[in-house]
Amino acid sequence: MKYGRFSSDGLEFIVTQPETPAPWINYLTNDRYCAVISQTGGGYSFYRDCRTDRILRWAPDYKNFDRPGRYIYAREVKPGVKGKKAAAWSLTYQPLRVKPDSFECRHGLGYTTITSKYYGITSEITYFVPTHEDCEVWLVKLTNDTNRERKLEIYPYVEWLMGDYHEELRYRNIMNLYNRMWFDEAHQLIWGWKTAFWQGMNIKEFKNYGFFATDLEVKGYATQKAAFLGRYNTEEKPESILEGTFKNTALCSGEDGIACFKNVVKLGAKQSKEFVVILGETEGQAQALKWIGKYRDLGHAKKALDETKALWRERVCGNIVVKTPDKDFDTMVNAWVKYQVYICNLWSRSPSFYHEGSGGRGYRDSCQDSEAICSINPDLTRKRLLHAASLIRRDGTSAPGWSDTTGAANHRPNKDHQIWLTATVCSYIQETGDVSILKEYVPYLKDKWVGGWEIDRNFNGGAQIDGEGMLFEHLEKNLNFCFNDVGERGLPLIGHADWNDAIDAAGKSHRGESVWLAQALVRSLKFFAELCALTEDKEKEQEFLNKARTVTERVNEIGWDGEWYTRGFTDEGQAYGTKAYDEGKIFINTQAWAILSGVAQAGEREEKVLKAVDRYLDGKHGLALFYPAFTKFRPELGRISMFSEGTKENAAIFCHAAHFMVVAYCMAGKGQRAYDSLCKIMPNKQKDYDVYKAEPYVYAEYLVGPENPYRYGEGQFTWVTGTSGWAFMAATEWLLGVRRDYDGLRIDPCLPSDWKKCSVRRPFRGDIYEVEIENPNGVEKGVVELTLDGHPVKGNLIKPVGDGKTHKVRAVLG
Ligand code: GLC
Repeated sequence: MKYGRFSSDGLEFIVTQPETPAPWINYLTNDRYCAVISQTGGGYSFYRDCRTDRILRWAPDYKNFDRPGRYIYAREVKPGVKGKKAAAWSLTYQPLRVKPDSFECRHGLGYTTITSKYYGITSEITYFVPTHEDCEVWLVKLTNDTNRERKLEIYPYVEWLMGDYHEELRYRNIMNLYNRMWFDEAHQLIWGWKTAFWQGMNIKEFKNYGFFATDLEVKGYATQKAAFLGRYNTEEKPESILEGTFKNTALCSGEDGIACFKNVVKLGAKQSKEFVVILGETEGQAQALKWIGKYRDLGHAKKALDETKALWRERVCGNIVVKTPDKDFDTMVNAWVKYQVYICNLWSRSPSFYHEGSGGRGYRDSCQDSEAICSINPDLTRKRLLHAASLIRRDGTSAPGWSDTTGAANHRPNKDHQIWLTATVCSYIQETGDVSILKEYVPYLKDKWVGGWEIDRNFNGGAQIDGEGMLFEHLEKNLNFCFNDVGERGLPLIGHADWNDAIDAAGKSHRGESVWLAQALVRSLKFFAELCALTEDKEKEQEFLNKARTVTERVNEIGWDGEWYTRGFTDEGQAYGTKAYDEGKIFINTQAWAILSGVAQAGEREEKVLKAVDRYLDGKHGLALFYPAFTKFRPELGRISMFSEGTKENAAIFCHAAHFMVVAYCMAGKGQRAYDSLCKIMPNKQKDYDVYKAEPYVYAEYLVGPENPYRYGEGQFTWVTGTSGWAFMAATEWLLGVRRDYDGLRIDPCLPSDWKKCSVRRPFRGDIYEVEIENPNGVEKGVVELTLDGHPVKGNLIKPVGDGKTHKVRAVLG
């Protein structure tokens, strides 16, 4: 693979060249502190929320040159040369970009190690975020590979943002007037601070302290960016380093702030020296001093690194393990997709390397993320789903999301939020058997929104608690809202948007309807009926099955255009995603969800849907979101038609939606099609990384679609995407088909026909099931023989044994 490779156990991705076609990044995080880091140390850090508590400066346009970051400059006055002439380089290649003699960046689970060699000095920096303290630690080792003594000047360097990222983007040269950064002589560290005592026009209240320290003896310190870099320079050409003009600046007041130390490291022949750099943010200075004290102890720092590595290894490797004939597939499923699912669960979408970083977590995104992580961490699912439930209002609508620092989100909600939580709750109960969660009391939310759309002008304040009720009732209200909030055709109103954020004008006048949302509602109404059955509420079960039937009939009557399912109707009644529409004729969502929801019956209808997907949406780089892309603005649809053809929601290969289809293929018994579609977008199966450009180890949100004039196949917006959750569920629960159910583990593989043997290790309700799947006749689906510990089992359900032991399951397809 060009630019890098996986380690032999698949748990590290080793970038072998500093310059990759795009920054190839990693997320280092505990539940509160997060560092986004590229292969050359670029990126930013934040605490609790990537908008309100940004620590390091970063802006989306930096993705091209990938700066600034967490740097260490090195400088060596050449022996025998008089004056200030020196060799200078940066240990992570950036920002000085001197060509290294060797370079390697290992992105691992919970750490990133960048190793380089310059002028006979090998350096290795391991960046990680410890589990208990809200900071990041850089463990540095310098080795003198030569036989002569070396005296190096070492300058660890970061650039502060401190505070609200959006205010920073908007009021770039006002925000820095609030900056106060200073060298603390007594404690030999640099503080980053903002005099943001209350909220005003161009500032948000912000009281925390950033801190930067090292265990090396501090020989100098810099806090003023301009003085450090010199006029007209960037961090690529810092005058202080290149010209040797470094001067102490103890205070930065009202201008751009940095934190940089000057240290001197002497290395005898072949000698090594290790040291630590610590960067973080806290509410109080005392806390910071405590942590710095801890991590200035090299032994402690190393121990914390080991603990962090062990924790992530356990989180990722200590659960489901698959073994198939496809090693790339196994590497993704056993390590990297799980890691990505974790990162999405911990931080949702906002700490993107590319997006606007608006902070908080999206409601629908979190529901799907927490459903996906259920098979590996049901406790996290529980926590998240109860939180999501507390964002439901008494009218049944859901807030669009929340932030750990600012509470429930108050921007205009989308109309699909209501349908997601039920699926997550069902999955949680299937995974754990814990039906009692339905009776858990959860608060209702009161905020300014009524009916999911109107603003209550009399409402004052942000989010309030509006009494409480059982989780079950919350879900019921959620679905009833969606069921009743319909337009003239009886289909759910699309409002501000449904799953597709960019169909944002079809319901401007509150009349546009969504066929996709109707299908998604059907699926959740059926799920809710299952929950009614679990609680033995027969009447309600029937009521919800009837509702599901009603919506199904409406969709089949109004939303079927003869060959495929229409996407929706605009305010003016224009159908789109249908043959008669000139562009945007067929959308993948309504084909996939017709199958996911059971709206399209198996047989002729399903076959037609699959044929249409094959014919219009499939291509060499995967399944497109729709076809054809919009080439001109559609005021009746909105933003979707404004993106460049093939990018984002304008007919990209949108990986989240493509995985909806992979699951649909599996439900329809098309294992080969499912596998082929999945492989086309799998990051480590790309044929040309100069075309794909994105990381080979994590999913992209999309690949540029075929109608783009010149970027077809380019991966965009990696890491924080709903793709990872659906990719994980598609692979483990649908393709390999080892799937939770209320009464046990369903064994229902749907495989490519040439997979003759595969296995899944699946912890489930305290036991471990080692499932061996055999496919001697090369079929795609259908278990004909099933045994549990050698005993034949009828059907395809393994009932939990419940003895906490390991059990052997053998399934034969035929
Ligand atoms: C992004 C959003 C997700 C949305 C999708 C389609 O992935 O995170 O919430 O459903 O785009 O617009």
